[in-house]
Amino acid sequence: MSVLNKNQLSALLKRRHDLIPGGAHTYSKGDDQFPSNAPKAAVKGRGAYVWCEDGKKYLDWCMGLRSVSLGHVYPAVNKAVKVQMDQGTNFGRPHLTEFLLADRITKLLPGVEMVKFAKNGSTVTTAATKLARAYTGRKYIAVCKSQPFFSYDDWFIGTTDCGAGIPAEIKKLTLTFEYNNYASLETLFKEYPDQIACVILEPVTMVEPKDNFLKKIEILTKKNKAVFIIDEMITGFRFDLLGAVKIYDLKPDLVTYGKGIANGYSLAVLGGKKEIMERGGIQHNKERVFLISTTHGAETTAIAAALATIDEMQKKKVQEHFWKIGDQIKTGMEKLIKKYDLTGLIEVVGFAPNLFMNFRDTDGAISFVLKTIFLQETIKRGLLFQGAFPLSYSHKSAEVVKTLKVMDEVMAVYKKVLADKNRNKYLVGEAIKPVFRKFN
Ligand SMILES: Cc1ncc(COP(=O)(O)O)c(C=O)c1O
Repeated sequence: MSVLNKNQLSALLKRRHDLIPGGAHTYSKGDDQFPSNAPKAAVKGRGAYVWCEDGKKYLDWCMGLRSVSLGHVYPAVNKAVKVQMDQGTNFGRPHLTEFLLADRITKLLPGVEMVKFAKNGSTVTTAATKLARAYTGRKYIAVCKSQPFFSYDDWFIGTTDCGAGIPAEIKKLTLTFEYNNYASLETLFKEYPDQIACVILEPVTMVEPKDNFLKKIEILTKKNKAVFIIDEMITGFRFDLLGAVKIYDLKPDLVTYGKGIANGYSLAVLGGKKEIMERGGIQHNKERVFLISTTHGAETTAIAAALATIDEMQKKKVQEHFWKIGDQIKTGMEKLIKKYDLTGLIEVVGFAPNLFMNFRDTDGAISFVLKTIFLQETIKRGLLFQGAFPLSYSHKSAEVVKTLKVMDEVMAVYKKVLADKNRNKYLVGEAIKPVFRKFN
């Protein structure tokens, strides 16, 4: 960084774990989630590229945990943000942009009649569950356990191996069901009759819904008078401008958005039916729900960014771009997997706008050591890669070509690694660890 000389930079980096628990503000950005040759910090980004503290430029396959959906420093968004910055960022009464964005979103997204803004996805998923509990007067939450993450709050983190600090009484209030397993949710409704406040899940992550799973659980949830919550944090504004609920014809009672909606500026949205949402309002006679009430939730620059991002998405048909470019990656990767005879050992799973890679050992088990080696080799060749392809609108065919060229070289190395029983010797540092683990 220009403001720091080499010694100051190295001293600061050495202290990062003394300054910040985990050395980062999201666990998935941490050192234990990257090979040791990964850059330690980002310095600046432009489009699909990021420059890091090691002085190198990388093709960015992280894109701010999928939040930067158009590209780094995207001109149309930053222009709108700068205009808003000069008008002020926060006030004692709502700013007009709050009403503008609320109006825009409620007109755009079918079924979203009211909205509430926040800074993080966890805030809005948690708010959705609280609202559902208040609306139904029930205490249990049913969450889809096959999907990785919904919130860092107790109701969800208590279902993972990271339960420290969460009382057992709280953990018991969250029940789990499996994706594509209708019976697992049906059983919960039988075991806890009239006690489940809501069902929350992402519409899709890695696999297609089977046997009309999504529609069937929507019907089951509504029949049991529980609130049906769809978390579109990843799929919203990515699979379709109107989200994956459009693709799968879902009619959730509440829906949550975040990543991608404001091109990396901090904005998350809880939306849904007026009948439920208005319980957080001040114009009814029922008991009040203290819904989302934060100092920074409606900070004007993020709202300006969201308005500009939605404009750009509509103008440029950004979601069509995601499907097209994602398909190019998937096809190219599958060709390479065949070329190197790695079928079953390396998999590209998920959907074109949100592809992931799995790394399996010859016994079929997911291998963190092999994943680390693969990532290490991609990073060495200029991709900041974490095993997924979170596309932005700035990832064009040229970036696909560059990526596939690197992947070709990496798979050639990987093939040799697989032929050697002592994989650990190829690791330059420690292997990546699961995010949700009880001990470090
Ligand atoms: C599906 C899903 N829901 C909720 C969240 C939480 O969002 P945030 O990190 O903005 O709190 C995430 C974040 O990764 C997510 O992927």
